[in-house]
Amino acid sequence: MKLTVVGGGSTYTPELVDGFARLRDTLPVEELVLVDPAADRLELVGGLARRIFAKQGHDGRIVTTTDLDAGVDGADAVLLQLRVGGQAAREQDETWPLECGCVGQETTGAGGLAKALRTVPVVLDIAERVRRANPRAWIIDFTNPVGIVTRALLKAGHRSVGLCNVAIGFQRKFAALLGVAPAQVHLDHVGLNHLTWETGVRLGGPEGEDVLPKLLAGHAEAIAADLRLPRSLLDRLGVVPSYYLRYFYAHDEVVEEQRTKPPRAAEVAAMERELLEMYGDPALDEKPELLARRGGAFYSEAAVDLAAALLGGGGSPYQVVNTYNQGTLPFLPADAVIEVQAAVGAQGASPLPVPRVDPLYAGLMAHVTAYEDLALEAALRGGRDRVVRALLAHPLIGQHAYADRLADELIAHNREHLAWA
Ligand code: G6P
Ligand code: MN
Repeated sequence: MKLTVVGGGSTYTPELVDGFARLRDTLPVEELVLVDPAADRLELVGGLARRIFAKQGHDGRIVTTTDLDAGVDGADAVLLQLRVGGQAAREQDETWPLECGCVGQETTGAGGLAKALRTVPVVLDIAERVRRANPRAWIIDFTNPVGIVTRALLKAGHRSVGLCNVAIGFQRKFAALLGVAPAQVHLDHVGLNHLTWETGVRLGGPEGEDVLPKLLAGHAEAIAADLRLPRSLLDRLGVVPSYYLRYFYAHDEVVEEQRTKPPRAAEVAAMERELLEMYGDPALDEKPELLARRGGAFYSEAAVDLAAALLGGGGSPYQVVNTYNQGTLPFLPADAVIEVQAAVGAQGASPLPVPRVDPLYAGLMAHVTAYEDLALEAALRGGRDRVVRALLAHPLIGQHAYADRLADELIAHNREHLAWA
């Protein structure tokens, strides 16, 4: 089996490689190709990746290349984990929206729109080249904003599934609180990427007993503290929102914090410098502790599980992924991309049925779906008017004066990444 990681020079890659090494019985990787335009990073990351494989007795071959077409040639699955413009562009996304009192975040709000506009054309070009090299290859998209990027890929007819680690993070956390094995915990996870709620926590599988009420009765305080949301909100909802919902439920509070703290991108950039220095040490042969301070916990487990299922070799039968709605949530269009439990196998992902969704969540999902629709239009066709339309449709923006001003900011800060600007 040959797997290719586009964005393989990311400082995250050792997390993935560590997962491939530990979970080689689930996913037997014979060749792992790391593709990245940054040759210097690639060499550092590739060196550590080989030492991780060697230490764990994995005899798979690790190849590094800056040549995308060569790298994807013959791959069974291609993982996309790239960031157009790097942390510098992310820092912009996290900063200029604050001028209008709007959240500065890389996937939510105006910053997320900027990221979508930079990213969609690049990902579509890569996907086209993957298809040319091997029309049967699966594309696993971890590139943000995952909902919009996956919708772009599916709309262009690519064999693709979008992946995020929010659900697996909750699965691990709840399993620890309940004192059961993670595989025992099946989440009723519903929404859009980075806009999800855990509406049930079942033991054993989709038909298992729902222990969410019990979990909340015993641990609401700890769960709320972790999400940095008030306990009273959790009590009111009776479900567990993802931490990305804090940007909605506590928007103004987040903006106040962001005004006084350095942007996350600056923190991450500092960590990346430190990590790359460590990766250059020939004595290092495992993923360093420092990597755990990044947001991607359990990303490798989720990626291995999904690749194994898609490539027909095993993996869990049900996984939380991003794919077409197809009537699962009747209040959204069929071609909306949703993030829910799906049956996953060699044929791809098909969502499990979801019981009626409370309007408290359905309304926000519908609102953000409409924004994502317009965001994708703007990403595919460009133009200031389309940017304004997407911003007007976003529930965290909405006002015409902000939409106009943020559109100008977005374009001014991203000109070098937007072919039409
Ligand atoms: C979580 C999200 C990812 C996001 C990451 C950011 O893992 O699910 O989509 O990319 O956080 O983490 P960072 O360490 O870059 O802030
Ligand atoms: Mn994510």
